[in-house]
Amino acid sequence: HEDSVDDSVDDMVLLASNRGPVSFTAADDGGLTLRRGGGGLVSGLSGIAAESTPDFPGVLWICAALSEGDRSAVRLAPGGRVDRIGYDTGPLRMLDIPPATFHRAYNAIANSTLWFVHHLLYDTANSPRFDLRFRREWESYRAYNEAFAAALAEEAGPGARVMVQDYHLTLVPEMLRKSRPDLRIAHFSHTPWAPPDYFSLLPGDVGAEVLAGVLGADRAGFLCDRWAAAFMDCCEALLGAAVDRGSRTVTHGGRTTRIGVHPLGVDGRELWSRASEPDVEAQLSALKERVGDRQVIVRIDRTELSKNIVRGLMAYREFLAEHPEWHGKVVHLAFAYPSRHDLPEYREYTAAVQRCAQEIEDEFGTPDWDPLVLNVHDDYARSLAAFRLADVLLVNPIRDGMNLVAKEGPVLSARAALVLSREAGAAAELGGDAILVNPYDVSATAAALHEALVMPESERAERADRLRAAATALPPRSWFADQLGAL
Ligand code: G6P
Repeated sequence: HEDSVDDSVDDMVLLASNRGPVSFTAADDGGLTLRRGGGGLVSGLSGIAAESTPDFPGVLWICAALSEGDRSAVRLAPGGRVDRIGYDTGPLRMLDIPPATFHRAYNAIANSTLWFVHHLLYDTANSPRFDLRFRREWESYRAYNEAFAAALAEEAGPGARVMVQDYHLTLVPEMLRKSRPDLRIAHFSHTPWAPPDYFSLLPGDVGAEVLAGVLGADRAGFLCDRWAAAFMDCCEALLGAAVDRGSRTVTHGGRTTRIGVHPLGVDGRELWSRASEPDVEAQLSALKERVGDRQVIVRIDRTELSKNIVRGLMAYREFLAEHPEWHGKVVHLAFAYPSRHDLPEYREYTAAVQRCAQEIEDEFGTPDWDPLVLNVHDDYARSLAAFRLADVLLVNPIRDGMNLVAKEGPVLSARAALVLSREAGAAAELGGDAILVNPYDVSATAAALHEALVMPESERAERADRLRAAATALPPRSWFADQLGAL
């Protein structure tokens, strides 16, 4: 490699996602404080983007400004490059999209329309309603995607590789290809993909625009076979595209897009090293004090409709009702962190979770036994401590792209049994050693909790070993490198 200047251009990688690795909060004195972002996508990608070695190119991350603090940072940063104003963020450009446009694109379209369709969350009585207001929101989603496409076109060197993430940015690949046909573009979905009958509840032109948008990429990636198959089915049914399921290609409008399956896993060593830090040890001692020698059932989620927290709590309640012999001998730690509270559905769901928890406390609690500890405040160190303490891990989403909690738990607990929804992408890899449940079936989930609690310790440990191996099979770095290589 003699021509190092060209090399650096060829190797350039751009990453685009709605949420970035950090966000800023404006302090009272006018200064900015920096916080790490959360959620599956960011926790998977942050480690990768921060790294740059000779065989692994640096990544320029482009994300949206999500808050007033982010917008203040962008105003100070030349060209939106917030890494150039003295913060340790890794190369990062934030886009200051007008707040009303951002709100409509993120809340109304991405989170209420696309997230809901892929997680089968439509409520036939109230929403969605595809009316004039929706059309205005859809225009904003387009404008927001255009802002990303324009920034990527501006930043990308000749032939650069661009990794576009998730349902927020489905239109970017096609938009970007039009302005920069030299680029190699990938799109990756961190969610499930809806089957055609459900996906076609979207207005026809909108559904077609989403599919064609993703097909603007050279490669479209998914977390498991099932979501990749559903995407291909939608392309065939709605666009009339030519689908080859054997070679996993979709041909539409004279171009062919390759479909990839990349089951994101966790980096076991990194997770353990974080989970051994003093703040986690302190939380672990506090939790141990609280639960004593009781068995511990753990769940950790964003307070998210698709995570099915209420049915999970109802299952615990039914388990307690059916098995009085366990009273006083088990504690359920349920950590449900606030998420997307701009949407009324999420605020109501949080209240429903709290009500259900209170009912369990009222029904079964005694002066010396709290059957349930519900925590609704975000605390990463406490979550890691809870994983370390778990005897049973409950992961019961209605539908989930992957679910990394199901993978983080087995890494941190060598003895936990995993009760896992068959509708989580993770079930494809972990199903053999987890106890699989139909997430709607509260009684079956209650029975699975009991089965997990009475499972002999040796069997739990053997299964936990295999779960850990499966969970760490494709850590984020290899997951990303595979996709780059394929592109
Ligand atoms: C899911 C999505 C991610 C998203 C995360 C958190 O994991 O696939 O793209 O970042 O949820 O959601 P939020 O709306 O808080 O970014």
